[in-house]
Amino acid sequence: MNGYNLIAPYYLFFVKLVFGDLLFKAQTHFLTKDLDNQQILIVGGGRGELLSFCLSQYPTTRITYVESSSKMIELSEKRVSIQDQTRVDFQCKSIFEWDTSLTFDLVLLPFVLDLFSEINCLALLRKTKAILHEEGSLIVTDFSKNPAKFQKALVGLMYLLFNSVGATERSKLPEFYALFAAEQLSIFKEKKLGLGPYQDLVLTFQLTLC
Ligand SMILES: C[S@@+](CC[C@H](N)C(=O)[O-])C[C@H]1O[C@@H](n2cnc3c(N)ncnc32)[C@H](O)[C@@H]1O
Repeated sequence: MNGYNLIAPYYLFFVKLVFGDLLFKAQTHFLTKDLDNQQILIVGGGRGELLSFCLSQYPTTRITYVESSSKMIELSEKRVSIQDQTRVDFQCKSIFEWDTSLTFDLVLLPFVLDLFSEINCLALLRKTKAILHEEGSLIVTDFSKNPAKFQKALVGLMYLLFNSVGATERSKLPEFYALFAAEQLSIFKEKKLGLGPYQDLVLTFQLTLC
């Protein structure tokens, strides 16, 4: 999925234009200050908005940033101050090709599970579980499957655009609950966000090991 190098320069502009702050609010909803995370893994963090947030929210935490698009990594690196550079390990790789001996207190999957085929969604969750601390959390944020016509059309249009640049392996949202159940992940907390025509459009889950 190399399409992200192509769309990286415009990505955030379009996200803000269409969704305002909704997607960012959803990704950060469960990232409260009181969490004591020593090691965070962000997969597919895009242009680094979530990375900046984590760096300021958790001033001593180390962050591994696995992102397959070199352009997205380049833009994310620009957001990191000189003081924080030693706290971030940028890995320009597909999550499926990346290996680590570390374990993580928190793994974040922000709008990435909806990109992969069923088999790869399961493989990603399995990989995450293997590197998560026993007491750790996995936060998955994504679009929810709502019956509202406007939302169905919006999600359909996004898949059409992403497919046209080779930026996704699928054409509709996965069944998140079935994926979590298949990989024996428990839903500790979940929250739907969005108002007006975007009512409950976005969903964020805090998952733990069963
Ligand atoms: C839909 S964008 C979401 C970006 C960001 N999380 C956000 O919400 O703005 C998906 C991101 O996942 C990255 N990505 C796609 N496939 C990946 C893979 N196999 N491994 C790591 N990152 C991947 C893309 O380059 C892109 O930055």
